[in-house]
Amino acid sequence: MEKLKKMVAREALKYIEDGMIVGLGTGSTTAHFIQLLGKLVMEEELEIYGIPTSYQAKLLALESGIPIIDLDEADAIDVAIDGADEVDPDLNLIKGRGAALTMEKIIDYRAGTFIVLVDESKLVDYLGQKMPVPIEVIPAAWRVIKEELEVFNATAELRIAKNKDGPVVTENGNFILDAKFERIEDPLDIEIELNNIPGVVENGIFADIADIVLVGTKEGVKKLER
Ligand code: 5RP
Repeated sequence: MEKLKKMVAREALKYIEDGMIVGLGTGSTTAHFIQLLGKLVMEEELEIYGIPTSYQAKLLALESGIPIIDLDEADAIDVAIDGADEVDPDLNLIKGRGAALTMEKIIDYRAGTFIVLVDESKLVDYLGQKMPVPIEVIPAAWRVIKEELEVFNATAELRIAKNKDGPVVTENGNFILDAKFERIEDPLDIEIELNNIPGVVENGIFADIADIVLVGTKEGVKKLER
């Protein structure tokens, strides 16, 4: 699996040009990309700036020698490279296993080209087939939002931290509800409706945003385009 992740990460380098501002995604696949990009920047003395979607991406970028800037310092983001947890046949995504979905969506949405890196295990027939939808919520509202999600026939669980007692707290100081849907028929509608619930900061459905999905398979990299 690591081999497939590295293979797509290497392929993504082909979309990078000197002078670009690059959105840096979160997760294990994007981590390979950030390291490879760092090498390229150093070797070819490129003038590239990264905008990280999380502390993970920021630390890795600094370690890899990629100069970083804040989102509010950039006039435009040329390209964003990010991972995903599920990809449906229309290239709608579920993201947020790493709890970085809010910043990821802001940066991926703003990018001139948004490129997704996955291995073939992430391809699904419909969103919600394997993974819950992570929803970032204001802490005080987690319980009312969990109840509200029953309207969608979704069962939500508060995400509990592994190396800390109590819930996961996002980089924005919020909680995450992982909502298991039976089947998401219309991702764009559900994405909008979830964000309409008071107290929801953002949700992990990324409908109609991905431009290119690079899929790592045993036969090589497959390119899917919208
Ligand atoms: C983090 C994410 C990740 O991009 C997504 O979970 C994929 O991660 P990985 O490449 O490790 O499978 O959305 O919030």
